[in-house]
Amino acid sequence: MSKIRKIAVLTSGGDAPGMNSAVRAIVFSAIHFGIEVVGILRGYDGLIDWETIPLGVDEVRNINNQGGTILFTSRSERFLQPEYRTQAARNLREHQVDAVVAVGGDGTLRGAIAFQNEGINMICIPGTIDRDVACTEYTLGFDTAANTATEAIDRIRDSSVSHGRCSVVEVMGRKRGYIALWAGMATSADAIVLPEKWDGNFDNITDAIKRRHADGRNSYLVVVAEGVIDAPELAEIIQKKTGIESRVSVLGYIQRGGQPTAKDRMYASLMGAYAVEILQHDKKNRIVAIKNDVLIDYDIEEALTLKNNTLDSFQYKLSLLLSE
Ligand code: F6P
Repeated sequence: MSKIRKIAVLTSGGDAPGMNSAVRAIVFSAIHFGIEVVGILRGYDGLIDWETIPLGVDEVRNINNQGGTILFTSRSERFLQPEYRTQAARNLREHQVDAVVAVGGDGTLRGAIAFQNEGINMICIPGTIDRDVACTEYTLGFDTAANTATEAIDRIRDSSVSHGRCSVVEVMGRKRGYIALWAGMATSADAIVLPEKWDGNFDNITDAIKRRHADGRNSYLVVVAEGVIDAPELAEIIQKKTGIESRVSVLGYIQRGGQPTAKDRMYASLMGAYAVEILQHDKKNRIVAIKNDVLIDYDIEEALTLKNNTLDSFQYKLSLLLSE
């Protein structure tokens, strides 16, 4: 029998569709094992200020299909400072919390590692639309974000075709190109600009557009991951070099909102329940991950040492082939 009697759960960093399903599964699983759950509001800030709600079946009953996070979130600046982490640990000890389950991305993982010095057992669940946590093939929210971006780009394309324009669409992803790659391939983009692959050569993009123009096409689509090149600048270059009227759409936060897809709900439920399972086995400081579609867990420090800068090479090669 595990010694765990009470856990806290929080969501941190950028909200991601599926976070609520993870919270729901954590609560149901914990109750099943006789564990009490306290919900921490606003991520690590809520740990510092002890802003909490009790979490039982009633609180999580109708949240599976809700976007955002019922626990709210933050990118806590204070948690970066040791004195605030000590305060957060004091709060947890005062309230007899045995472990914290934190759902979030890279920043959340770093916060969890820093918190280990305070002797708090942290279990992390990767939740970010960016799919940029190295140890796992899947992060909660990616599927919904990629679908939302795809749907939005389909709509933009309708207008682009009607006007005979080139649309440059910027999607999120921080330093990773997965949303751009998936949404770009799904919408048959003429060019996809990815942080992992960008070599500064605008001619590759404008030449591709010129080739299609020569083939008789009248509308064009370029999907660009945020932070690689300035989307308005790219549209200007395309217009100047090809003579084709170009417009920019920045999709922004619509990619983070909305009802989670079945895939995000399912993986979130699995990861949430798995987090409670590993606590039952008295594991400490782990991150839940998916590898070859199987749930596994890593030591959180080891997880952060893994390399995080490659795209799936077959997916990338296919994206080039499909936009030839
Ligand atoms: O990490 C998720 C994400 O949406 C990134 O794609 C984006 O760069 C960032 O968060 C935006 O962060 P904020 O909510 O702080 O503006």
